[in-house]
Parts: sequence; structure tokens; C-alpha cells
Amino acid sequence: MKVEMEDIDDSTICDSVSSLVEGCRLPVHMKGTHDWPLAEIISIKDMQGSKYYYVHYVDFNKRLDEWVTEESLDTRKVHFPRKDTCTGTGVSTPKKLLIGSGNNGTISRPSSPILNNAELVNGNAVLAAALQKRMNRKRKGPSLESEDSQDGVVPPAGPRQSGSMVSHHDDVVTRMKNIEMIELGMHRIKPWYFAPYPQEMVHLPCIYICEFCLKYRKNRKCLERHLVKCNLRHPPGNEIYRKDTISFFEIDGRKNKVYAQNLCLLAKLFLDHKTLYYDTDPFLFYVMTVFDHRGFHIVGYFSKEKESTEDYNVACILTLPPFQRKGYGKLLIEFSYELSKFEGKTGSPEKPLSDLGLLSYRSYWAQTILEILLSIKPVGENEKPQITINEICELTSIKKEDVISTLQNLNLINYYKGQYIITLSKEIIQAHYKQENRKTRIDSKCLHWTPKDWGKRAKW
Ligand code: ACO
Ligand code: ZN
Repeated sequence: MKVEMEDIDDSTICDSVSSLVEGCRLPVHMKGTHDWPLAEIISIKDMQGSKYYYVHYVDFNKRLDEWVTEESLDTRKVHFPRKDTCTGTGVSTPKKLLIGSGNNGTISRPSSPILNNAELVNGNAVLAAALQKRMNRKRKGPSLESEDSQDGVVPPAGPRQSGSMVSHHDDVVTRMKNIEMIELGMHRIKPWYFAPYPQEMVHLPCIYICEFCLKYRKNRKCLERHLVKCNLRHPPGNEIYRKDTISFFEIDGRKNKVYAQNLCLLAKLFLDHKTLYYDTDPFLFYVMTVFDHRGFHIVGYFSKEKESTEDYNVACILTLPPFQRKGYGKLLIEFSYELSKFEGKTGSPEKPLSDLGLLSYRSYWAQTILEILLSIKPVGENEKPQITINEICELTSIKKEDVISTLQNLNLINYYKGQYIITLSKEIIQAHYKQENRKTRIDSKCLHWTPKDWGKRAKW
């Protein structure tokens, strides 16, 4: 349950941490800064006589949530939650289940192919039963898999749960980071959000993930044993693009289910706002890699519905943190539009976008549209260059709404003497050319891909 500020009793002077409970809001020292923003206590734990508080900074993204000790709490001004409301949870909780029959009995489509937090934690019984079922199936099957070769996938938990079944407790669990650290190839990465890895993986100092098949192990020894047997040096599926060291692999969520599910699980560590889903069948995954003498190393990916009724050309998109802010995000986005161009369609990313997703898309759209505007030539000598919104859409495969919102955001559209005109200021043009030196671009000549008409197929 969400606690709004108006639900909270007046702030109280409380000089003792002992009266603090989950749901209290107070200024907390944010690690690595000099700031004391307002934060909400999500959870409290006692370890060897010391208390630890898991806090969410109210006006900040959840990836900054952290465990702090009492020295970080300013107990002079505490807002206590009202007694008649559930404690905690003033933060935006993960989107409730969009899958399955809700209270009104309607079935809604998954919005993206990621495992569902709430669904998974929603009653460990469901999870345990599903895991047990899978283990039984494995034991029965002809599998030669050893302890080292669990495929690391949490199976579908049977019938979908309705949103109303998500209890407050589950909410708190899925709102807290549960994985300390992952090791992926040469990188150690601190997760940003909860991901429904199996219970035995949770709260280990580190999870070791094979960077090629994405299976996960409890410790380095287990991973080493796995690596002896794992022959993959690139993602499964077809390599549909290669230029210099950059490649893209297309993976069918139905044909490579284990890989797809492990990718979703990994991605969930850095994606918070998406509904999670077990069934990867309706999705394709485009994994971007960088090549070196050891193989094709995953840098990021995006997923895409095989058929989207809403013209989505991306469901989830991620650049792994060690590679962020180097232009790979825009390269992934550019690739997604290149696919749409090959399909002869316009497309748009699935909503909602995350804060970083919005930044990246806005920047990509602005850059791409400005490039077009600056390249058009006037028809006659004394004419002004002309282009229609539809032509921009056709040239870029960016959906009309996104073209219009970009032009509006950049403040480029004016209504003048009965028609819309676009005025490009010097500043805009200069800013654009400064950005232009984005070195790596998608080269459509290097894309070897024919779109499939999934609608025509009897089955994915
Ligand atoms: N702070 C400020 N600006 C940022 C940040 C940041 N932390 N990260 C990226 N940007 C800006 C960059 O400055 C750049 O803009 P510019 O070219 O105008 O300077 C733009 O965003 C894109 O930068 P890239 O380096 O190309 O993108 P990156 O490789 O960092 O990937 C992405 C962007 C994919 C959104 C990444 O941040 C990520 O994986 N985040 C976690 C998952 C996520 O939120 N995904 C999007 C969800 S929405 C959806 O799935 C449809
Ligand atoms: Zn492997």
C-alpha cells in the first residue's frame, strides 16, 4: 500500500533510533555525497547487535536505495506512518502484475519478457512448487546434467497470479536489492534492483555468470567447472550483423528459452519498471557483442515482440553498466530502428521508459531528426527546404508521435501564416554538430536479415 505524505502524521522529534519503524521518513545521509535527502525506511535488520536500515531516497531512482547504519539517520525530524496504514512503501512499487487475470478477469499481454518479480515472490510456495516440478522433470528426463549444469532458470509458476494477490510483504521483498554482486566475464557489477534469482543465489557475496551462455553459479569454482564444459564463445542464435568488432545476434525466445530466460534475469538486475514475464516465446532478443580473441562479449541487448499490436519495436533495452555512457545505448536504439526500416514500418519503444531510457531515446530521436532536417535541399533556388512529418517517419522509422514530441521538445515547430514551419537556430545546429562525432554507427550494409511475418505462422 502506498503511503502518501498526507497519510503521515506530523513530524515528530525522536532522538532515539529505537522508535524507528518501517515506513518512517527522515533525512538520511546519502553515501558518497554531502547530502541528506528525505528517505523512507523500507526494512530494518539486526545483525550482530547492530541495526541496519534499508532506505529509499524519496525523490531519487530506486537504484540508489541502500543499507545504512544509524549514524546516517537524522532522527531529529521523523515522519511516522499512520497507524492505520501499512508500514512502508511510499515509493513507487514495481508495476503490479499486468499478466494474467486481474480482478476484472481480463487477460492482459505481458509488456516485456522478463520474469515477474511479484509473481515469483508471490508466495514462495508457488515458486517452490514450480522449482520442484522442474527438478522432478529433470530427474525423470534423460539429462546427464550434473550439479554444475543446472540451467539456472526459474520456471513458469503455473497459472498467473492476479495483482490483488501481491501482499505487502512481497512488495517489500521485491523492492529491495537481493543480489550483492555479479561477476560476468572480466567485470564485477553491482546490481541496481531486485531480480528473482533462486533463493540459494540470494545474499551470496557474488554470483558468477558465464558471459557466453549466461548460466549462473554460486562460486568461482563452480563457474570454472562450467567453463570447462561450455563451448559457447558467443550468444546462441544467428549473427545477423557484423562490422568491425560489433556484432548482433538474433535469438528466438522459443528456440533458446534457457538463454532468453537467463538474459531476462540478468537484465532485471538493471531494469526496474518493467513487468516481468516467464514466457519468452513471443520475443526475439538482439544481443550486441564486442569481439576480441576470447570471443564475442555481451555489451547489451534489446528484446522485441515477434508481433506487436502497438508498433513497439523494442520491449526492453539494456547496456550493461560497465559499458554505459559510451554510445552503445544509442547504437542498440539505432539497430532497432534499422530493423524497423527493413520491415518497412515505424516503431516505438514499449512504455513506460525508465529515466535513462527516456534520456537515451530523446537524444537519439533529436539527433536523427536533426540529421534529416539538415540534409534536405530546397527544391527551387529561392525556396525553403520542405519536408513532411510523414516523410521524416519514413526515413527514420521513428513513430509519428515521437517525431512530433521531439520537434516540440526541441522547440523547433512554429505555426506561421497558416502553416507549420521548423526553425533551426544556430545553437541547435552547433549542438548537433558537436554530437555528430558519435563514432560508431550502424551500417545497414552489414545487416543480413529478412524480417519474418510471424502472424502468418501457425506457431512461433
Ligand atoms: N546520466 C545522464 N545521461 C545519461 C546517462 C546517465 N547516467 N546514461 C546515459 N545518458 C545519456 C547520454 O549522455 C547520451 O546522451 P547524449 O548522447 O545526448 O550525450 C544518451 O543518454 C545515450 O547514451 P549512451 O551511452 O548511448 O547509452 P548507454 O549505453 O548508457 O545506454 C541505457 C542507455 C540503455 C538506457 C542504459 O542507461 C541502461 O541500460 N539503463 C538501465 C536499463 C534501462 O533503464 N533501460 C531502458 C528502459 S526503457 C525500455 O526498456 C524500453
Ligand atoms: Zn556457459
